[in-house]
Amino acid sequence: MDGKSLGILSPTEDSLALLAQHIARHLQKLDSGDPRLLKPSLNDDQGLRRLLREVSLETGGLTLDEAMTQVVHGLTTRSLHTGHPRHLGYANPSPSLVSTVGDALAAAFDPQLAMSPSAPFALALERDALGALASAAQLPSDPDASHCTTGASESLFTALAMALTRAEPRYLDEGILGFASRPRVYASHAAHRSLAKCLRMLGLGDRSGAWLRSTRADGVLDGATLAHAIDEDIRSGFLPLAVVATAGSTESGGIDKIDELVHVGRARGLWLHVDAAWGGGAALSQRGRDAMFGAHQADSFAWDAHKWPGNSLATGMLFTPHRELLQRLFGVQAAYMAGGLAHRFATTVQWSRRATGLKLWLMLATEGIDGLRARCDKWLELGDFLRAWCEREGVEVAETNSVFPVILLAIDNPAGRVRRVRHQGIGWVSTCEFQSRTWVRVAVTSPRTTREDLDAVLAALTRG
Ligand SMILES: Cc1ncc(COP(=O)(O)O)c(C=O)c1O
Repeated sequence: MDGKSLGILSPTEDSLALLAQHIARHLQKLDSGDPRLLKPSLNDDQGLRRLLREVSLETGGLTLDEAMTQVVHGLTTRSLHTGHPRHLGYANPSPSLVSTVGDALAAAFDPQLAMSPSAPFALALERDALGALASAAQLPSDPDASHCTTGASESLFTALAMALTRAEPRYLDEGILGFASRPRVYASHAAHRSLAKCLRMLGLGDRSGAWLRSTRADGVLDGATLAHAIDEDIRSGFLPLAVVATAGSTESGGIDKIDELVHVGRARGLWLHVDAAWGGGAALSQRGRDAMFGAHQADSFAWDAHKWPGNSLATGMLFTPHRELLQRLFGVQAAYMAGGLAHRFATTVQWSRRATGLKLWLMLATEGIDGLRARCDKWLELGDFLRAWCEREGVEVAETNSVFPVILLAIDNPAGRVRRVRHQGIGWVSTCEFQSRTWVRVAVTSPRTTREDLDAVLAALTRG
């Protein structure tokens, strides 16, 4: 059939070869740490508008190859390349050859994962990949419940909706009006603000969020602080609903005392969600699991493979043993979806579902759990390197209980130093606020980062 008759370009080997060339060049530049990728033009509005004006979206007229080259130029020069070895900022995607191949196959074959009969192979890959990760990381998981999400925000949204479903039988019919008193969700003051968005979207509102501050020097949430807050809330007539434990806070990498939170929460019938959006990768190693002890008993566990161990967006993963709850929550009927409730669309937020698990499966099929575990160990060792470097050089750092490779430096003029290091193209770091103070934050988020990269950036940051 002639694809052009439908107004669709027919594929040519040349265009696909050009695409492969563009992708290979970009990934090679990332792998080699090409310094040009560290100095993108992010604030050049005029230049950006000029670039965009070169193409008319009214008349079109570019060949696909020309349009592709235009896009590659724009993306190369006007994106922050978070997979670069010297990108030492917040946890973000690190595209790899494997994840790019997975994304390309998912796009070209585009299996629809809403219904089992239409994509049995792609569904089996998602199930097997998540099953292998859950078992290696000792996560709470039922293979028919755990699933890929767009990210930790969607995972948290699902978890809290499950908590509401479990807490009040009338929730599915009456929504939040089915609750006799206001539900409360507990989290550390350092928890990610996606919780605030979820509370609003679920109809709970800001007043349902209890952002707790413990008295510990490292600030992480502990059992005594949680127990005190719950007991006070009960006296005030609230309904304690769920605890969101953070394993790897966004700023400092702090890890809440998960086992204590499980203990306190369970005794009072609360849902326990672990937000390990970027810390989840550490659960592949014994050391990481020890630091997150208690996570295996959680009701739900969120981990983004696009934050660690190096993948492209959007590879969120929600692990949970609560299949029956998901079926109750999302099990709506639609006449055109034959066989209805047996399918994935009836156990997840998404209806149409992309084959996100494909790239996870490819990563495991090529590296295996052993390969990933070895990478995870090296990642944690970079944290030891950061801490030892600062101790040796006498640089004051924030007190945290993080085992991850993230460190907060107390150096004068933090914003100026960050600007200088970025401007010189030495590395990409940021400032952050923690314990009422501004720090320079250095974190390893790309699997490409080496000790030499860290040494160069720390030296540039602290000299002079
Ligand atoms: C600890 C933590 N939780 C949740 C999120 C939100 O994850 P996502 O962007 O995948 O929804 C982030 C960062 O983005 C995070 O650092």
